[in-house]
Amino acid sequence: MALKITVIGTGYLGATHAAAMAELGFEVLGLDIVPEKIAMLTAGRVPMYEPGLEELLRRHTAGIEGASGRLRFTTSYEEAGEFGDVHFICVNTPQKHGEYACDMSYVNAAVESLAPHLRRPALVVGKSTVPVGSADRLAARLAELAPVGADAELAWNPEFLREGFAVQDTLRPDRIVVGVTSDRAEKLLREVYAKPLAEGSPFVVTDFPTAELVKVAANSFLATKISFINAMAEVCEAAGGDVVKLAEAIGHDERIGRKFLRAGIGFGGGCLPKDIRAFMARAGELGADQALTFLREVDSINMRRRGHMVELARDAVGGSFLGKRVAVLGATFKPDSDDVRDSPALNVAGQIQLQGAQVTVFDPKGMENARALFPTLAYAADPAEAARGAHAVLHLTEWREFRELDPAGLGDVVAERRILDGRNALDADRWREAGWTYRALGRPLA
Ligand SMILES: NC(=O)c1ccc[n+]([C@@H]2O[C@H](COP(=O)([O-])OP(=O)(O)OC[C@H]3O[C@@H](n4cnc5c(N)ncnc54)[C@H](O)[C@@H]3O)[C@@H](O)[C@H]2O)c1
Repeated sequence: MALKITVIGTGYLGATHAAAMAELGFEVLGLDIVPEKIAMLTAGRVPMYEPGLEELLRRHTAGIEGASGRLRFTTSYEEAGEFGDVHFICVNTPQKHGEYACDMSYVNAAVESLAPHLRRPALVVGKSTVPVGSADRLAARLAELAPVGADAELAWNPEFLREGFAVQDTLRPDRIVVGVTSDRAEKLLREVYAKPLAEGSPFVVTDFPTAELVKVAANSFLATKISFINAMAEVCEAAGGDVVKLAEAIGHDERIGRKFLRAGIGFGGGCLPKDIRAFMARAGELGADQALTFLREVDSINMRRRGHMVELARDAVGGSFLGKRVAVLGATFKPDSDDVRDSPALNVAGQIQLQGAQVTVFDPKGMENARALFPTLAYAADPAEAARGAHAVLHLTEWREFRELDPAGLGDVVAERRILDGRNALDADRWREAGWTYRALGRPLA
Protein backbone atom coordinates (compact mmCIF):
# COMPACT_ATOMS: atom_id res chain seq x y z
CA MET A 1 0.00 0.00 0.00
CA ALA A 2 1.20 3.51 -0.79
CA LEU A 3 2.82 5.36 2.08
CA LYS A 4 0.81 7.99 3.91
CA ILE A 5 2.72 11.12 4.69
CA THR A 6 2.22 13.94 7.16
CA VAL A 7 3.98 17.27 6.97
CA ILE A 8 4.22 19.11 10.29
CA GLY A 9 4.62 22.88 9.95
CA THR A 10 3.24 24.32 6.72
CA GLY A 11 5.39 27.41 6.18
CA TYR A 12 7.70 28.04 3.19
CA LEU A 13 9.27 24.61 3.53
CA GLY A 14 6.32 22.55 4.75
CA ALA A 15 3.61 23.85 2.41
CA THR A 16 5.89 23.21 -0.54
CA HIS A 17 6.91 19.79 0.72
CA ALA A 18 3.29 18.76 1.35
CA ALA A 19 2.15 19.78 -2.14
CA ALA A 20 5.19 18.12 -3.70
CA MET A 21 4.57 14.84 -1.84
CA ALA A 22 0.98 14.84 -3.18
CA GLU A 23 2.35 15.51 -6.67
CA LEU A 24 4.61 12.45 -6.25
CA GLY A 25 1.46 10.38 -5.67
CA PHE A 26 1.23 10.08 -1.88
CA GLU A 27 -1.74 10.71 0.39
CA VAL A 28 -0.65 13.71 2.43
CA LEU A 29 -1.89 15.40 5.59
CA GLY A 30 -0.38 18.81 6.40
CA LEU A 31 -0.48 20.04 9.99
CA ASP A 32 0.11 23.46 11.49
CA ILE A 33 -0.71 25.05 14.84
CA VAL A 34 -1.96 28.25 13.18
CA PRO A 35 -5.63 27.61 12.30
CA GLU A 36 -5.74 30.56 9.83
CA LYS A 37 -2.96 28.97 7.80
CA ILE A 38 -4.75 25.65 7.74
CA ALA A 39 -7.99 27.34 6.68
CA MET A 40 -6.23 29.09 3.79
CA LEU A 41 -4.43 25.96 2.63
CA THR A 42 -7.65 23.95 2.82
CA ALA A 43 -9.25 26.56 0.58
CA GLY A 44 -6.41 26.10 -1.93
CA ARG A 45 -4.62 29.34 -1.08
CA VAL A 46 -0.95 29.59 -0.14
CA PRO A 47 -0.24 31.87 2.85
CA MET A 48 2.92 33.20 1.12
CA TYR A 49 4.17 33.90 -2.37
CA GLU A 50 6.17 31.15 -4.03
CA PRO A 51 6.08 30.76 -7.82
CA GLY A 52 4.02 27.75 -8.95
CA LEU A 53 3.09 26.66 -5.43
CA GLU A 54 -0.55 27.68 -5.45
CA GLU A 55 -1.12 25.83 -8.74
CA LEU A 56 0.50 22.70 -7.31
CA LEU A 57 -1.52 22.96 -4.13
CA ARG A 58 -4.79 23.40 -6.00
CA ARG A 59 -3.99 20.38 -8.16
CA HIS A 60 -4.15 18.14 -5.09
CA THR A 61 -6.13 19.74 -2.25
CA ALA A 62 -9.26 17.79 -1.37
CA GLY A 63 -12.41 19.76 -2.07
CA ILE A 64 -10.92 21.86 -4.89
CA GLU A 65 -12.65 21.17 -8.17
CA GLY A 66 -10.64 18.86 -10.39
CA ALA A 67 -8.02 18.20 -7.69
CA SER A 68 -6.61 14.72 -7.00
CA GLY A 69 -7.82 15.03 -3.39
CA ARG A 70 -4.59 13.49 -2.08
CA LEU A 71 -3.76 16.54 0.05
CA ARG A 72 -5.58 17.58 3.22
CA PHE A 73 -4.79 19.78 6.19
CA THR A 74 -5.44 19.65 9.91
CA THR A 75 -4.48 21.15 13.25
CA SER A 76 -4.89 17.82 15.06
CA TYR A 77 -1.80 15.87 16.12
CA GLU A 78 -4.02 12.95 16.98
CA GLU A 79 -5.24 12.78 13.39
CA ALA A 80 -1.67 13.13 12.09
CA GLY A 81 -0.41 10.35 14.36
CA GLU A 82 -3.12 7.98 13.22
CA PHE A 83 -2.74 8.88 9.55
CA GLY A 84 0.96 8.84 8.78
CA ASP A 85 3.58 6.21 8.04
CA VAL A 86 6.18 8.91 7.48
CA HIS A 87 6.02 12.25 9.33
CA PHE A 88 8.12 15.17 8.09
CA ILE A 89 8.98 17.84 10.66
CA CYS A 90 9.18 21.19 8.86
CA VAL A 91 8.70 23.71 11.67
CA ASN A 92 10.75 26.87 12.10
CA THR A 93 14.10 27.03 13.91
CA PRO A 94 14.74 30.76 14.36
CA GLN A 95 17.62 32.49 16.10
CA LYS A 96 17.12 32.75 19.86
CA HIS A 97 16.29 36.22 21.04
CA GLY A 98 19.49 38.02 21.98
CA GLU A 99 21.70 35.00 21.28
CA TYR A 100 23.34 33.35 18.29
CA ALA A 101 21.98 29.92 19.16
CA CYS A 102 19.07 28.20 17.45
CA ASP A 103 15.68 28.20 19.16
CA MET A 104 14.71 24.52 19.14
CA SER A 105 11.45 25.01 21.02
CA TYR A 106 9.27 24.55 17.91
CA VAL A 107 10.97 21.32 16.84
CA ASN A 108 10.88 20.02 20.41
CA ALA A 109 7.18 20.89 20.66
CA ALA A 110 6.40 19.17 17.34
CA VAL A 111 8.10 15.93 18.48
CA GLU A 112 6.51 16.08 21.94
CA SER A 113 3.07 16.64 20.42
CA LEU A 114 3.32 13.96 17.77
CA ALA A 115 5.03 11.14 19.66
CA PRO A 116 2.19 10.27 22.09
CA HIS A 117 -0.03 9.57 19.06
CA LEU A 118 2.33 7.11 17.38
CA ARG A 119 0.66 3.76 18.04
CA ARG A 120 2.05 1.89 15.04
CA PRO A 121 5.48 1.79 13.43
CA ALA A 122 6.34 5.18 11.97
CA LEU A 123 9.30 7.11 10.63
CA VAL A 124 9.65 10.70 11.82
CA VAL A 125 11.86 12.65 9.43
CA GLY A 126 13.36 15.97 10.49
CA LYS A 127 13.75 18.50 7.69
CA SER A 128 14.19 21.66 9.75
CA THR A 129 17.72 23.05 10.01
CA VAL A 130 18.97 22.15 13.48
CA PRO A 131 22.17 22.23 15.55
CA VAL A 132 24.27 19.09 15.21
CA GLY A 133 23.36 16.63 17.96
CA SER A 134 19.64 17.40 17.89
CA ALA A 135 18.66 14.25 16.01
CA ASP A 136 20.33 11.96 18.55
CA ARG A 137 18.51 13.70 21.38
CA LEU A 138 15.15 13.72 19.57
CA ALA A 139 15.40 10.04 18.58
CA ALA A 140 15.67 9.09 22.25
CA ARG A 141 12.79 11.37 23.20
CA LEU A 142 10.63 9.93 20.44
CA ALA A 143 11.14 6.32 21.50
CA GLU A 144 10.46 7.34 25.10
CA LEU A 145 7.18 9.12 24.37
CA ALA A 146 5.68 6.99 21.59
CA PRO A 147 3.31 4.20 22.67
CA VAL A 148 4.90 2.07 19.93
CA GLY A 149 8.36 2.60 21.51
CA ALA A 150 11.45 2.03 19.40
CA ASP A 151 9.28 1.38 16.33
CA ALA A 152 8.84 5.13 16.19
CA GLU A 153 12.11 5.87 14.49
CA LEU A 154 13.82 9.11 13.55
CA ALA A 155 15.71 10.12 10.41
CA TRP A 156 17.19 13.46 9.38
CA ASN A 157 16.71 14.73 5.86
CA PRO A 158 17.88 18.35 5.57
CA GLU A 159 16.22 20.57 3.03
CA PHE A 160 18.08 22.62 0.43
CA LEU A 161 15.22 24.33 -1.41
CA ARG A 162 15.71 27.93 -2.49
CA GLU A 163 12.79 30.31 -2.02
CA GLY A 164 11.73 31.45 -5.46
CA PHE A 165 12.56 27.98 -6.86
CA ALA A 166 11.00 25.94 -4.04
CA VAL A 167 8.65 23.87 -6.19
CA GLN A 168 11.23 22.73 -8.71
CA ASP A 169 13.86 22.23 -5.99
CA THR A 170 11.45 19.98 -4.07
CA LEU A 171 10.27 17.96 -7.05
CA ARG A 172 13.75 17.66 -8.58
CA PRO A 173 16.26 18.12 -5.76
CA ASP A 174 19.93 18.47 -6.73
CA ARG A 175 20.70 16.00 -3.94
CA ILE A 176 18.83 14.12 -1.22
CA VAL A 177 20.71 13.69 2.05
CA VAL A 178 19.44 11.30 4.68
CA GLY A 179 20.83 10.63 8.13
CA VAL A 180 19.57 7.24 9.27
CA THR A 181 20.28 4.61 11.89
CA SER A 182 18.62 1.62 10.23
CA ASP A 183 18.12 -0.05 6.85
CA ARG A 184 14.38 0.27 7.36
CA ALA A 185 14.59 4.06 7.54
CA GLU A 186 16.75 4.22 4.41
CA LYS A 187 14.36 1.92 2.56
CA LEU A 188 11.35 4.04 3.51
CA LEU A 189 13.08 7.24 2.37
CA ARG A 190 14.09 5.62 -0.91
CA GLU A 191 10.41 4.81 -1.37
CA VAL A 192 9.35 8.40 -0.61
CA TYR A 193 11.89 9.81 -3.05
CA ALA A 194 11.61 7.02 -5.65
CA LYS A 195 10.64 9.41 -8.45
CA PRO A 196 13.40 12.01 -8.06
CA LEU A 197 15.87 9.15 -7.49
CA ALA A 198 14.77 7.50 -10.73
CA GLU A 199 15.25 10.86 -12.43
CA GLY A 200 18.83 11.03 -11.22
CA SER A 201 18.87 13.01 -7.96
CA PRO A 202 21.95 11.86 -6.03
CA PHE A 203 21.16 10.11 -2.73
CA VAL A 204 23.62 10.53 0.11
CA VAL A 205 23.08 8.19 3.04
CA THR A 206 24.89 9.09 6.22
CA ASP A 207 24.69 9.30 10.02
CA PHE A 208 22.76 11.88 12.05
CA PRO A 209 25.58 14.34 12.78
CA THR A 210 26.79 14.42 9.19
CA ALA A 211 23.26 14.96 7.83
CA GLU A 212 22.73 17.85 10.23
CA LEU A 213 26.12 19.33 9.41
CA VAL A 214 25.67 19.09 5.62
CA LYS A 215 22.96 21.73 5.73
CA VAL A 216 24.80 24.30 7.82
CA ALA A 217 28.05 23.61 5.98
CA ALA A 218 26.32 24.32 2.65
CA ASN A 219 24.83 27.56 3.95
CA SER A 220 28.14 28.60 5.48
CA PHE A 221 29.87 28.08 2.15
CA LEU A 222 27.28 30.14 0.29
CA ALA A 223 27.40 32.92 2.87
CA THR A 224 31.20 32.93 2.65
CA LYS A 225 31.10 33.22 -1.12
CA ILE A 226 28.78 36.22 -0.95
CA SER A 227 30.82 37.91 1.76
CA PHE A 228 34.01 37.18 -0.16
CA ILE A 229 32.86 39.17 -3.17
CA ASN A 230 31.48 41.88 -0.92
CA ALA A 231 34.87 42.14 0.79
CA MET A 232 36.40 42.49 -2.68
CA ALA A 233 33.86 45.28 -3.32
CA GLU A 234 35.15 47.10 -0.25
CA VAL A 235 38.71 46.86 -1.55
CA CYS A 236 37.60 47.92 -5.04
CA GLU A 237 35.97 51.00 -3.53
CA ALA A 238 39.18 51.88 -1.70
CA ALA A 239 41.38 51.25 -4.72
CA GLY A 240 39.15 52.54 -7.51
CA GLY A 241 38.52 49.08 -8.99
CA ASP A 242 35.35 47.58 -10.44
CA VAL A 243 34.03 44.55 -8.54
CA VAL A 244 31.65 43.55 -11.33
CA LYS A 245 34.55 43.13 -13.77
CA LEU A 246 36.59 41.45 -11.06
CA ALA A 247 33.81 38.92 -10.39
CA GLU A 248 33.40 38.23 -14.09
CA ALA A 249 37.11 37.65 -14.47
CA ILE A 250 37.61 35.36 -11.48
CA GLY A 251 34.36 33.53 -12.29
CA HIS A 252 35.84 32.22 -15.54
CA ASP A 253 37.97 29.95 -13.41
CA GLU A 254 35.84 26.84 -13.10
CA ARG A 255 37.14 26.15 -9.62
CA ILE A 256 35.65 29.47 -8.52
CA GLY A 257 32.57 29.65 -10.75
CA ARG A 258 30.39 32.68 -11.48
CA LYS A 259 27.43 31.99 -9.23
CA PHE A 260 26.95 33.86 -5.97
CA LEU A 261 29.59 36.40 -6.96
CA ARG A 262 27.36 39.42 -7.36
CA ALA A 263 28.49 42.12 -4.95
CA GLY A 264 25.75 44.09 -3.26
CA ILE A 265 24.04 44.71 0.04
CA GLY A 266 24.51 41.11 1.05
CA PHE A 267 22.46 38.17 2.17
CA GLY A 268 19.45 38.05 4.47
CA GLY A 269 16.29 36.00 4.82
CA GLY A 270 15.09 33.38 7.24
CA CYS A 271 18.04 31.00 6.72
CA LEU A 272 21.60 32.12 5.95
CA PRO A 273 22.12 34.70 8.74
CA LYS A 274 20.58 32.62 11.53
CA ASP A 275 22.10 29.37 10.26
CA ILE A 276 25.69 30.61 10.32
CA ARG A 277 25.16 32.13 13.77
CA ALA A 278 23.60 28.95 15.16
CA PHE A 279 26.49 26.98 13.63
CA MET A 280 29.03 29.18 15.44
CA ALA A 281 27.12 28.83 18.71
CA ARG A 282 26.93 25.06 18.41
CA ALA A 283 30.60 24.73 17.47
CA GLY A 284 31.37 26.74 20.61
CA GLU A 285 29.42 24.28 22.75
CA LEU A 286 31.37 21.44 21.15
CA GLY A 287 34.72 23.12 21.79
CA ALA A 288 35.28 23.66 18.06
CA ASP A 289 34.62 27.41 17.96
CA GLN A 290 38.04 28.19 16.45
CA ALA A 291 37.10 26.28 13.33
CA LEU A 292 34.32 28.76 12.63
CA THR A 293 35.74 32.12 13.70
CA PHE A 294 35.85 33.02 9.99
CA LEU A 295 32.02 32.95 9.98
CA ARG A 296 32.04 35.86 12.41
CA GLU A 297 33.90 37.83 9.75
CA VAL A 298 31.53 36.59 7.04
CA ASP A 299 28.64 37.87 9.14
CA SER A 300 30.21 41.25 9.85
CA ILE A 301 31.20 41.87 6.22
CA ASN A 302 27.60 41.11 5.34
CA MET A 303 26.07 43.43 7.92
CA ARG A 304 28.58 46.17 7.04
CA ARG A 305 27.28 46.32 3.48
CA ARG A 306 23.88 47.50 4.68
CA GLY A 307 25.46 50.39 6.56
CA HIS A 308 27.66 51.16 3.60
CA MET A 309 24.66 51.38 1.29
CA VAL A 310 23.12 53.92 3.67
CA GLU A 311 26.35 55.96 3.61
CA LEU A 312 26.55 55.82 -0.17
CA ALA A 313 22.98 57.09 -0.45
CA ARG A 314 23.53 59.84 2.11
CA ASP A 315 26.64 60.94 0.31
CA ALA A 316 24.76 60.93 -3.00
CA VAL A 317 22.02 63.24 -1.70
CA GLY A 318 24.56 65.76 -0.39
CA GLY A 319 25.61 64.51 3.03
CA SER A 320 22.32 64.58 4.94
CA PHE A 321 18.96 62.88 4.58
CA LEU A 322 17.06 65.69 6.28
CA GLY A 323 14.32 66.95 3.98
CA LYS A 324 15.16 64.36 1.32
CA ARG A 325 12.87 61.86 -0.32
CA VAL A 326 14.23 58.39 -1.01
CA ALA A 327 12.54 55.72 -3.10
CA VAL A 328 13.35 52.12 -2.24
CA LEU A 329 12.74 49.48 -4.89
CA GLY A 330 12.53 46.10 -3.19
CA ALA A 331 11.56 44.93 0.28
CA THR A 332 12.02 41.17 0.16
CA PHE A 333 15.38 39.55 0.89
CA LYS A 334 15.49 38.14 -2.64
CA PRO A 335 13.32 38.30 -5.78
CA ASP A 336 10.42 35.89 -6.48
CA SER A 337 9.51 35.66 -2.82
CA ASP A 338 7.41 37.64 -0.35
CA ASP A 339 9.81 36.81 2.48
CA VAL A 340 11.07 39.89 4.34
CA ARG A 341 12.75 38.08 7.23
CA ASP A 342 16.06 39.86 7.95
CA SER A 343 15.79 41.59 4.58
CA PRO A 344 18.78 43.82 3.74
CA ALA A 345 16.48 46.05 1.64
CA LEU A 346 14.11 46.81 4.52
CA ASN A 347 17.00 47.18 6.92
CA VAL A 348 18.55 49.85 4.66
CA ALA A 349 15.17 51.55 4.18
CA GLY A 350 14.63 51.65 7.95
CA GLN A 351 18.10 53.08 8.66
CA ILE A 352 17.63 55.83 6.08
CA GLN A 353 14.28 56.77 7.54
CA LEU A 354 15.81 56.92 11.01
CA GLN A 355 18.34 59.40 9.63
CA GLY A 356 15.57 61.77 8.61
CA ALA A 357 14.60 60.95 5.03
CA GLN A 358 11.08 60.31 3.81
CA VAL A 359 11.32 56.77 2.52
CA THR A 360 8.79 55.19 0.16
CA VAL A 361 9.05 51.49 -0.61
CA PHE A 362 7.69 49.41 -3.46
CA ASP A 363 8.01 45.65 -3.84
CA PRO A 364 6.14 43.40 -6.30
CA LYS A 365 5.18 40.75 -3.71
CA GLY A 366 6.48 41.73 -0.29
CA MET A 367 4.32 44.76 0.53
CA GLU A 368 2.05 43.11 3.06
CA ASN A 369 4.85 41.48 5.02
CA ALA A 370 6.97 44.64 4.82
CA ARG A 371 4.14 46.79 6.15
CA ALA A 372 3.63 44.40 9.06
CA LEU A 373 7.35 44.54 9.96
CA PHE A 374 8.03 48.25 9.23
CA PRO A 375 4.66 49.98 9.53
CA THR A 376 6.21 53.45 9.73
CA LEU A 377 7.74 53.37 6.25
CA ALA A 378 5.62 54.72 3.39
CA TYR A 379 4.53 52.26 0.72
CA ALA A 380 3.63 52.93 -2.91
CA ALA A 381 1.54 50.99 -5.41
CA ASP A 382 4.20 50.96 -8.13
CA PRO A 383 7.80 52.04 -8.81
CA ALA A 384 6.74 55.38 -10.32
CA GLU A 385 4.65 56.30 -7.31
CA ALA A 386 7.53 55.36 -5.00
CA ALA A 387 9.93 57.47 -7.07
CA ARG A 388 7.74 60.58 -7.30
CA GLY A 389 9.74 63.56 -6.07
CA ALA A 390 12.65 61.35 -4.95
CA HIS A 391 16.16 62.75 -4.57
CA ALA A 392 17.52 59.23 -4.87
CA VAL A 393 16.14 55.89 -6.04
CA LEU A 394 17.65 52.80 -4.37
CA HIS A 395 17.52 49.44 -6.10
CA LEU A 396 17.74 46.94 -3.24
CA THR A 397 16.12 43.65 -4.38
CA GLU A 398 16.86 42.36 -7.86
CA TRP A 399 13.35 41.74 -9.18
CA ARG A 400 13.19 41.34 -12.94
CA GLU A 401 10.61 44.10 -13.15
CA PHE A 402 13.15 46.59 -11.79
CA ARG A 403 15.70 45.59 -14.41
CA GLU A 404 13.03 46.22 -17.03
CA LEU A 405 12.07 49.69 -15.76
CA ASP A 406 12.22 52.50 -18.31
CA PRO A 407 14.84 54.95 -16.98
CA ALA A 408 13.49 57.79 -19.14
CA GLY A 409 9.92 57.36 -17.88
CA LEU A 410 11.00 57.12 -14.26
CA GLY A 411 13.23 60.13 -14.81
CA ASP A 412 10.14 62.27 -15.45
CA VAL A 413 8.75 61.80 -11.93
CA VAL A 414 11.84 62.07 -9.72
CA ALA A 415 13.29 65.27 -8.27
CA GLU A 416 16.83 64.14 -9.14
CA ARG A 417 17.89 61.45 -11.58
CA ARG A 418 20.04 59.57 -9.13
CA ILE A 419 19.98 55.77 -8.92
CA LEU A 420 21.94 53.63 -6.47
CA ASP A 421 22.14 49.99 -7.39
CA GLY A 422 22.50 47.92 -4.23
CA ARG A 423 22.52 44.69 -6.22
CA ASN A 424 24.76 45.49 -9.18
CA ALA A 425 21.97 44.17 -11.37
CA LEU A 426 20.83 47.16 -13.44
CA ASP A 427 22.25 48.08 -16.83
CA ALA A 428 24.37 51.09 -15.83
CA ASP A 429 24.73 52.35 -19.42
CA ARG A 430 20.98 52.45 -20.00
CA TRP A 431 20.45 54.56 -16.87
CA ARG A 432 23.33 56.88 -17.65
CA GLU A 433 22.12 57.36 -21.23
CA ALA A 434 18.75 58.48 -19.82
CA GLY A 435 20.53 61.16 -17.81
CA TRP A 436 20.79 59.39 -14.48
CA THR A 437 23.74 59.38 -12.12
CA TYR A 438 24.31 55.67 -11.53
CA ARG A 439 26.20 54.49 -8.48
CA ALA A 440 26.75 50.98 -7.22
CA LEU A 441 28.66 49.22 -4.47
CA GLY A 442 32.22 48.33 -5.41
CA ARG A 443 32.28 50.27 -8.67
CA PRO A 444 33.82 53.53 -9.76
CA LEU A 445 31.52 56.53 -10.14
CA ALA A 446 31.36 56.85 -13.93
N1 LIG B 1 12.46 28.77 3.84
C1 LIG B 1 13.47 28.15 3.25
O1 LIG B 1 13.88 28.53 2.15
C2 LIG B 1 14.14 26.97 3.89
C3 LIG B 1 15.03 26.19 3.13
C4 LIG B 1 15.66 25.11 3.73
C5 LIG B 1 15.46 24.84 5.07
N2 LIG B 1 14.62 25.63 5.80
C6 LIG B 1 14.41 25.31 7.20
O2 LIG B 1 13.10 24.79 7.32
C7 LIG B 1 12.52 25.12 8.58
C8 LIG B 1 11.21 25.84 8.35
O3 LIG B 1 11.46 27.05 7.68
P1 LIG B 1 10.29 27.89 7.01
O4 LIG B 1 10.97 28.99 6.24
O5 LIG B 1 9.35 27.00 6.32
O6 LIG B 1 9.61 28.51 8.33
P2 LIG B 1 8.13 29.13 8.45
O7 LIG B 1 8.19 30.00 9.64
O8 LIG B 1 7.70 29.68 7.13
O9 LIG B 1 7.20 27.87 8.74
C9 LIG B 1 7.20 27.15 9.93
C10 LIG B 1 5.78 26.68 10.20
O10 LIG B 1 5.78 25.81 11.31
C11 LIG B 1 4.63 26.07 12.09
N3 LIG B 1 4.82 25.55 13.46
C12 LIG B 1 5.56 26.09 14.47
N4 LIG B 1 5.50 25.31 15.55
C13 LIG B 1 4.72 24.24 15.24
C14 LIG B 1 4.31 23.08 15.91
N5 LIG B 1 4.71 22.84 17.17
N6 LIG B 1 3.52 22.21 15.27
C15 LIG B 1 3.13 22.43 14.01
N7 LIG B 1 3.49 23.50 13.29
C16 LIG B 1 4.28 24.40 13.90
C17 LIG B 1 4.46 27.55 12.01
O11 LIG B 1 3.14 27.95 12.33
C18 LIG B 1 4.81 27.80 10.54
O12 LIG B 1 3.69 27.72 9.70
C19 LIG B 1 13.59 25.96 9.30
O13 LIG B 1 14.36 25.10 10.10
C20 LIG B 1 14.44 26.49 8.16
O14 LIG B 1 15.74 26.82 8.57
C21 LIG B 1 13.94 26.67 5.23
